[in-house]
Amino acid sequence: MDSFGPFIPLILMFLQWTAAPTAGEITWTYAGLVGQSEWSEYFPECGGTSQSPVDVITTKTRYNPGLLPVTPLGYSQHGNTPFSLHNNGHTVVIELPDWMGLGGLPWLFTAVQMHLHWGSGGPSHGGSEHAINGQSADAELHVVHYNSELYPNMSAAMTQRDGLAVLGILIVTGEETNPAFDNMLNYLSRVRHADQKVYIPAFDVQSLLPNDLERYYRYNGSLTTPPCYQSVIWTLFHERVQISKAQLLKMETILYSSKSEEPDRMLLQDNYRTTQPLNHRVVFSSFSAESGKKLSSGEVTAIVIGVMCGCVGLAVIVRFIVKTIRFFKLLHLETVVVNRIKEPEKEKEKKQDVALNSTSAAEKKEEPSPSPQTAEP
Ligand SMILES: *[C@@H]1O[C@H](CO)[C@@H](O)[C@H](O)[C@H]1NC(C)=O
Ligand SMILES: *[C@@H]1O[C@H](CO)[C@@H](O)[C@H](O)[C@H]1NC(C)=O
Repeated sequence: MDSFGPFIPLILMFLQWTAAPTAGEITWTYAGLVGQSEWSEYFPECGGTSQSPVDVITTKTRYNPGLLPVTPLGYSQHGNTPFSLHNNGHTVVIELPDWMGLGGLPWLFTAVQMHLHWGSGGPSHGGSEHAINGQSADAELHVVHYNSELYPNMSAAMTQRDGLAVLGILIVTGEETNPAFDNMLNYLSRVRHADQKVYIPAFDVQSLLPNDLERYYRYNGSLTTPPCYQSVIWTLFHERVQISKAQLLKMETILYSSKSEEPDRMLLQDNYRTTQPLNHRVVFSSFSAESGKKLSSGEVTAIVIGVMCGCVGLAVIVRFIVKTIRFFKLLHLETVVVNRIKEPEKEKEKKQDVALNSTSAAEKKEEPSPSPQTAEP
């Protein structure tokens, strides 16, 4: 035991060194020693009050009719320059050319990169960062942009409020293969280990997005990884995109978070942060929550025509009822009038009858008289 004596100060020094590394050197992870619950010890902003991701409770969102449709700029004009695909030990990243951008926000934003978050348990076992009404998706794509109107580059913008704009696309699993995602997933086996990077053919980035870019949730939040800067204007699309089970499996099982030289291989899985408290924040929606969905122009036309037909129909029915009532009222009046007129007439008739009968009785002997009734008008 005594032989360890001289090493104790050394061991203590080592412990001190591992316990207090500087933020720049620290290797954070999702679970483990520097897992997400410890992030804020090393990266103070991770403990802030405007963190991402969040669980969007749709009944608590506020409809903002001023939120314009998001417009990807140049997403489909990828040219012939290859994209770089990089395993950074936390996710797989594709750098985007700076002619790609984002419109529909108060400033022009320039694209920087996109990356994915996923789980480990296959379909319906989580993996997305954002949730809607407590429900996670199987994975999530983030397309990151910086505010190029206010800041010169990404590193300057990422610490500033309104510095970044990130599109969040929830990914669910279905029957069909999504060919757009194969443009990324087919090359994962070339960057299995952390720090590996390859060039892949450029492709249409817009094909990764949902069709409906009009309906989304908007809130102020943060980077979902350390240093968690609270600089992101988030756009989470209401429509989810779908990939196949095989595609999800590729995402979940091909990559390692460990470097190629490291003896222990660590699968890169469950690289998603848990949802963070909203605190004082409001999540805005670009569409009315009451109707549940925005109506297309065709649906609006159908409703207008329907309402018009309904009104015309109602008018016809009301008119018929009024006419019927009037008819019966008139009929009633006429009967009364006719009865009033008829009563004296009947008296007259009786008198005439009596008179006729008396005359006819007298005339009967001389000539056969015609029936007195036939003479009646
Ligand atoms: C970003 O802009 C800042 C401020 O102009 C500058 O100091 C910095 O060197 C730039 N960084 C990069 C990576 O270009
Ligand atoms: C985000 O914060 C800014 C203030 O910096 C505010 O003007 C804006 O309305 C907020 N946006 C949302 C979606 O809450």
